Amino acid sequence: MTRIVRTVAELREQVRAWKAAGEQVGLIPTMGALHDGHLSLVRLAQTKVKRTVASVFVNPKQFAPHEDFDAYPRGETRDAQLLESAGCDLLFAPNAAEMYPQGFSTTINLTGVSEPLEGAARPQFFGGVATVVTKLLIQAEPDIAVFGEKDYQQLQVIRRVTRDLDLPVEIVGAPTARAEDGLALSSRNAYLSTEERAAAVALPNAMKAAIAAVQAGERVETAEAAGKAALEAAGFRQVDYFDFRDADDLSRLGPDALPSGARPRLLAAAWLGKTRLIDNMGA
Ligand code: PAF
Repeated sequence: MTRIVRTVAELREQVRAWKAAGEQVGLIPTMGALHDGHLSLVRLAQTKVKRTVASVFVNPKQFAPHEDFDAYPRGETRDAQLLESAGCDLLFAPNAAEMYPQGFSTTINLTGVSEPLEGAARPQFFGGVATVVTKLLIQAEPDIAVFGEKDYQQLQVIRRVTRDLDLPVEIVGAPTARAEDGLALSSRNAYLSTEERAAAVALPNAMKAAIAAVQAGERVETAEAAGKAALEAAGFRQVDYFDFRDADDLSRLGPDALPSGARPRLLAAAWLGKTRLIDNMGA
């Protein structure tokens, strides 16, 4: 079985032993409820380094009080089995007291890339993510850390933090894993009813249509409005954003046709019943 450690001391001891033996180490931070998307991150890490460490920690600091921290799916035995099947070497599964001991007072906050989109919809979110990811990178001292492009803004935020704080790690982005119909894999897809799951495919479909439209010269604003209307017609009750943004700094593109040389990324978040789905695609 994949070995499980629960303390920073045990984690560091193992990682330092590997490094002393000349083996590079990759970290895959997760909140558990693992699916094929997470396992694809492990497999990508294995193509670059000898040893892989997955962390599973449902981070309370990135959930607002009204959000789904309590309901978030958990299952360590299943997660450990999946990591074992993917050939992951170590599972770091700390409890909340190990990560945030009594008196914990530090938060990593950023400006810029963390502010629009998810940052506007979930004001506490990126502070919580940046804090826990910075801790994990300092705790594990990996050579690389792999994050899914599914959470594209999170990936850009983590790139910014590691650059700003000179953390000695290479951040690797991994392509979004999708179900056969195109829906991005997400632990939160488990919340969807059968009917909602069938309707959810409207999200990637609306995004592909919007990208095809702007590539054919449509105005960005018009393509965004059509995408939102398509989602509402498919039963989404609220669209938080459906925006073409610069792929690097996530500044707004449009309202007119894309200028040549633009590096657009379409990012979307929308509610289907009680479930908030996010997705993004290069355009
Ligand atoms: O993407 C996630 O699962 C989480 O935001 C992360 C990066 C593990 C931090 O808690």
